Amino acid sequence: MKHLIDPTDLTVEETQEIIDLALDIIANRAKYSEKCKGKKLATLFYEPSTRTRLSFTAAMMELGGNVLGFADAASSSVSKGETVRDTVRVVENFADIIAMRHFLEGAQLAATEVSRVPIINAGDGSHAHPTQTLTDLLTITRELGRLDNLTIGFCGDLRFGRTVHSLIKALSRQKGIKIVLIAPPQLRLPDYIKQDVCDRLGLEYKEVDTLEEAMPELDVLYMTRVQKERFLDEDEYEAVKDSFVLDSEKMKLAKEKMAVLHPLPRVNEILEEVDSDPRAAYFRQVENGKFVRMALISSLLDWKDDPNHQMPKQEEVEVPGHLRCENKKCITRNEKSPRRAYKAPDGSLRCRYCDHKFK
Ligand code: CP
Repeated sequence: MKHLIDPTDLTVEETQEIIDLALDIIANRAKYSEKCKGKKLATLFYEPSTRTRLSFTAAMMELGGNVLGFADAASSSVSKGETVRDTVRVVENFADIIAMRHFLEGAQLAATEVSRVPIINAGDGSHAHPTQTLTDLLTITRELGRLDNLTIGFCGDLRFGRTVHSLIKALSRQKGIKIVLIAPPQLRLPDYIKQDVCDRLGLEYKEVDTLEEAMPELDVLYMTRVQKERFLDEDEYEAVKDSFVLDSEKMKLAKEKMAVLHPLPRVNEILEEVDSDPRAAYFRQVENGKFVRMALISSLLDWKDDPNHQMPKQEEVEVPGHLRCENKKCITRNEKSPRRAYKAPDGSLRCRYCDHKFK
């Protein structure tokens, strides 16, 4: 069975298959209106969402299926202490496929350990957001006509930005990608992405201090919000919240054929005056999210019993008894879980659920 927990759970070919299917859905909407008739999607959202939850709901409705679930953990038995694994053991009796957002990193991987139905990660803490990545890949394809030979600038919160982490991982598998990182020192890209993804796979990247410096060479500018909810210290958030703001003046420095993406919501990092620029693709990106989720739901249901579409085999190593994951927001620090680890290129042991080091 195929789940989607990390963008690399899909092969490059499967990813392309989903993007191609989304393009066909866009061109032939009526053809898919009963594709998932009689099927049910459960949306289990333990964290706020507008786009992801509603686009999953709209996607399943447009496929002729039904949706059930909760938008707030407080209204479910999670508030009584039910674990993620137990919740999934219950919900799999009611639904054919589950999309889950959780504030704990690795929660959806934990769900796959017990689930009899496909699990889709709709965002886990600061870790990963693979369906946003599919949305971004479809948007880049539609805006620029290709996914290779691109220079992509990532701006804002690259430390806690799960959409950034997942998109960099996916892009590392395309040819001719260069990455420009634009972030204050406190919000730089985590080492595990720099070392395990960029360095190991030879993805070219550089860090610059200003948007002005980066603009002229970019094919895609990926803006992100500085996420107040991820900071433990409010002063730290206040110090960096207005670091980078995209306005019409900075857009004058960009290529004529460039695309500005943003997973949204935005706060003030893109001024509204940019919205009317034809290169501002972030609201078109939202609509692409629905189409690509239609393609994903349909594919995961079709692939459920197909031996050609299985989860990738990942090597794991034994963890010495005294070590535990250093990340307090990891599922393993909050719910009883096995200690699963892999060896990073620098020899350190990293947690399979959240990619943080063991200490
Ligand atoms: N892009 C995104 O994940 O938006 P929501 O938080 O509104 O789902």
